[in-house]
Amino acid sequence: MKIIVAGASGVIGRALIPLLVKEGHEVAGITRTGQYADQLSRQGVRPVILDVFNREGVFQVLQEIRPDAVIHQLTSLGARDFEEHARLRIEGTRNLVDASLEAGVRRMVAQSISWAYAPGEGPASEDQTLHLEAAPPRKTTVDSVQALESAVAEMPEHVILRYGLFYGPGTWYAPDGYIGEQVKQGQLPATDGISSFIHVNDAALAAVQAMSWPSGCYNITDSEPAAGREWLTAFADALHAPAPDMKPGCESWERGALNGKATRLGWKPRYDSWRSGFRHGLEVTHLNRL
Ligand SMILES: NC(=O)c1ccc[n+]([C@@H]2O[C@H](COP(=O)([O-])OP(=O)(O)OC[C@H]3O[C@@H](n4cnc5c(N)ncnc54)[C@H](OP(=O)(O)O)[C@@H]3O)[C@@H](O)[C@H]2O)c1
Repeated sequence: MKIIVAGASGVIGRALIPLLVKEGHEVAGITRTGQYADQLSRQGVRPVILDVFNREGVFQVLQEIRPDAVIHQLTSLGARDFEEHARLRIEGTRNLVDASLEAGVRRMVAQSISWAYAPGEGPASEDQTLHLEAAPPRKTTVDSVQALESAVAEMPEHVILRYGLFYGPGTWYAPDGYIGEQVKQGQLPATDGISSFIHVNDAALAAVQAMSWPSGCYNITDSEPAAGREWLTAFADALHAPAPDMKPGCESWERGALNGKATRLGWKPRYDSWRSGFRHGLEVTHLNRL
């Protein structure tokens, strides 16, 4: 297939592109700067220098390339710019979807999150509602997720990947990442809040396999939603960091997510639990299987 990856230089894009190339797809990768263009060329990928807020530019690129599918992995989280991230979800996605529809693209696979569900009993499955009644600042996140997901759902074929918290190289949970550093300094308390994790390579693998999945939303998480007092203790241990302070309590929406819908289609994360992932996967940069 001919595929455009928006977010080719991001933490998922970098893991995803070699897999798509290995599968024999013809790939073009969007990045705003020339910095990553050479690397893409070396990988056999056509670099496309484009800012997705440039609506006219997005239409031009889609018209010229006319791909079969677009994979949307855009974020502004490298800079931890949450306002820009919400804008990307709303305006960036709108531009990509409108341009894709005009260019006759059939399929879009897009990155979302698995922690936007409304409070409820136990980990959430995909049929449960998003937390649209949340108070700010969470409301900004959930509203932007809703905007992204509903825009992507306008595509004839659409797969929305509701990812768990990423860990692995290049993520906030890498030993040298934003959260990793806080944990090493003993600054992050362990709460009762439940989270679902996913290794970044397993997240990329899901995006490749999603090229053939039925339209819909899929939680892409490991199989062990866990309370902070459990996972953070193991994470700190893996980093040889001090044991975290315990801070009982949590937000009502911190419930984790169930992955059965994706695993029933054959997606099988290499790290099915953060227990093995934190021990063995924090430094694993390559994927050795599809
Ligand atoms: N589920 C999760 O836990 C989750 C999800 C996402 C991110 N994160 C965390 O956030 C950190 C950064 O993630 P990341 O690498 O995905 O983010 P990133 O480095 O900020 O960028 C992601 C991609 O989006 C592209 N992009 C951003 N704005 C764009 C625009 N206006 N036009 C075109 N392209 C644009 C970037 O391209 P250029 O910069 O090359 O232009 C890059 O390819 C990671 O450490 C990760 O842990 C976590």
